[in-house]
Amino acid sequence: MALSTAIDRSECQRLDAGDPLASIADEFIPGEPGTLYFDANSVGAMPRAAEPLLARHIGEWQRLRRRGWSESTWLDAPRRIGAKLAPILGAGVDEVIVCDTTTLNLAKALSAALSLRPGRVRIVGEAGTFPSDLYVAQGLLAAFPDRRLDLVADGASIEPSLGPDVALLYLSQVDYRTARRHDMQRLTQAAHQAGALVVWDLSHGAGAVPAELDAIDADFAVGCGYKYLCGGPGAPAWIFAARRYHDAIEPLLAGWMGHASPFSFPLDYAPGDGMKRFLVGTPPVIANAVMEAAADLWVRVEPREVFRKHAALGDLVVALADQELARFGVAVASPREARARGGFVALSHPHGASVVAALGDAGVVASFRSPDNIRFGLSALYHRHVDVFDGIARLVGILREQSWQQDKYKVTKSI
Ligand SMILES: Cc1ncc(COP(=O)(O)O)c(C=O)c1O
Repeated sequence: MALSTAIDRSECQRLDAGDPLASIADEFIPGEPGTLYFDANSVGAMPRAAEPLLARHIGEWQRLRRRGWSESTWLDAPRRIGAKLAPILGAGVDEVIVCDTTTLNLAKALSAALSLRPGRVRIVGEAGTFPSDLYVAQGLLAAFPDRRLDLVADGASIEPSLGPDVALLYLSQVDYRTARRHDMQRLTQAAHQAGALVVWDLSHGAGAVPAELDAIDADFAVGCGYKYLCGGPGAPAWIFAARRYHDAIEPLLAGWMGHASPFSFPLDYAPGDGMKRFLVGTPPVIANAVMEAAADLWVRVEPREVFRKHAALGDLVVALADQELARFGVAVASPREARARGGFVALSHPHGASVVAALGDAGVVASFRSPDNIRFGLSALYHRHVDVFDGIARLVGILREQSWQQDKYKVTKSI
């Protein structure tokens, strides 16, 4: 992004005027008039097509009922939507399927990967990873008493901890508090050199920053559908497995929808082909309809443009923080370089939770994670540069007037 030393609103307007993704923003509902939403890291914006697609599926429910399974596209949705998300993930269309939650998909990926590395006892992970990722591994390992989870304290300790006893490297691409992004290619390569596989959680990166799953020779990955991917609150998650493993995977969570022939009702499990074996039960038809409205937008954008614009928006937050916020005690808590950052930018302030609460009343939706991170979740699909400028301007107002000090904003918990 070509920014002059002092950034003003007109410069942001100039950047928006040259934005090749500008027209895609019209495909989203803007939300409440006057509110600026920087929560792409939590619940992405609603595609306009969600409502008509939802209405179509509700109509099919009304008319077709049980016949919907055979006369509509309900059953095929997990694969079809997965194929539409594949390009933004850098995956093959047959390597992604949409189903269940991220946590459940982590259990599936972990168990599949463990079964491919028998005799190796350690899973190496990071202590600061998202808690659900840790819980699901802890729970799963109760069923694998010969394996153990080794948590390293920081990113620098990951590679030295790899050795011949390591079955898996188990990592989030992006830290959920600071947006620090791992070098997926380097770590995947290091794990492979040690004979281990990698399970990546891309929840805070997918749809914002590159994953390039096939290019980096990734093994397994999962991520949320409701954040940057804009699939709606509680949207189904996605799971990726490299094609080379498909036939070797005997799912731990075997269910009828992953069966080769579910409607023949055989007594014994036989996995379906490819990613189908990661399905467990009945697909959530209504939630999938909304998710597909978003997936239909992802196939319309050029991934490189998405990543370029996302980096530019993040750079703008960093530059404006330096220019406008540093004098109020706000620091940039995320990496300054875009290639080391995930989907949001975190700014730190000693009373971050109160500031986020005050921002809410000023019509700016951000979020807070302990100890002092104010997170601005950015979307290349629907944010304009002027949105970032205006959001930071409102933050300046709150800090200048110290309105965050009011009693009603005395909060310390995550919001
Ligand atoms: C990094 C990460 N992993 C996993 C999850 C959990 O996702 P789910 O609730 O879909 O299981 C989240 C939720 O925010 C997350 O941020």
